[in-house]
Amino acid sequence: MRKKLVAGNWKMHGNKEQNQELLNAIIAGMPRMRSGECVVCVPYPYLSQVQLLLQNTFIKLGAQNVNQFAKGAYTGEVSAEMLNDFGCHYVIVGHSERRAVYGENDQTVALKYAAAQKSNMVPILCVGETSEQREADVTEQVIFKQLNAVIENSGVSSLVNAVIAYEPVWAIGTGKTATPQQAQDVHSYIRKSIAMLDPEVASALTILYGGSVKADNASQLFAMPDIDGGLIGGASLIATDFISICQSVQN
Ligand code: PGA
Repeated sequence: MRKKLVAGNWKMHGNKEQNQELLNAIIAGMPRMRSGECVVCVPYPYLSQVQLLLQNTFIKLGAQNVNQFAKGAYTGEVSAEMLNDFGCHYVIVGHSERRAVYGENDQTVALKYAAAQKSNMVPILCVGETSEQREADVTEQVIFKQLNAVIENSGVSSLVNAVIAYEPVWAIGTGKTATPQQAQDVHSYIRKSIAMLDPEVASALTILYGGSVKADNASQLFAMPDIDGGLIGGASLIATDFISICQSVQN
């Protein structure tokens, strides 16, 4: 059985008071998950606060980005070992906002993925096409290239300790969710491409869908055979919605 996962991506939201309120509500309102895992990826300055709040709960801690280098003169950057120091289990790499706004290319993302694994964290590798790419019918090529950079650098077996998140750029923060079938088609493409290299790795790989997942569409998405959970932006900031999404992944 593949691991089911729901990961909240808080992006640049929250403050000490709101974080505490949100997590208290999630912890109090969510029964321990029967199967699957739940993680919140929070802004760097709150790692320590959230690490404490999550102590003795079943919710795991994650970060939203990591630098590819181990240490050095990289003003403003954060290394994988630093994230490890605060108990991060997961780190998002290659989110489309990092790719589009901060110019991260496939090679940089591949190095960040490797850095995360080297520090025993599980990278959540984001891949996905823009609306122009979808219209031009090159979705599969785009995703293949994004995946391939990581596989070339770290090997297909590295995916045993990784999660992939398919996030169509046109669906992120737009309220325009991919239909369950559109998402399933790409998830199945991802799994099949990896299966050509290693069928065992492919069948055990957790592939999340992200892009306007809400409490009212999560169940239909998670019901698809190759969708193993979600990467949740906006809805992860609303306790009742996040709880409901975490519950739907177990059904
Ligand atoms: P969204 O964001 O759920 O707000 O669309 C998803 C993401 O960017 O990971």
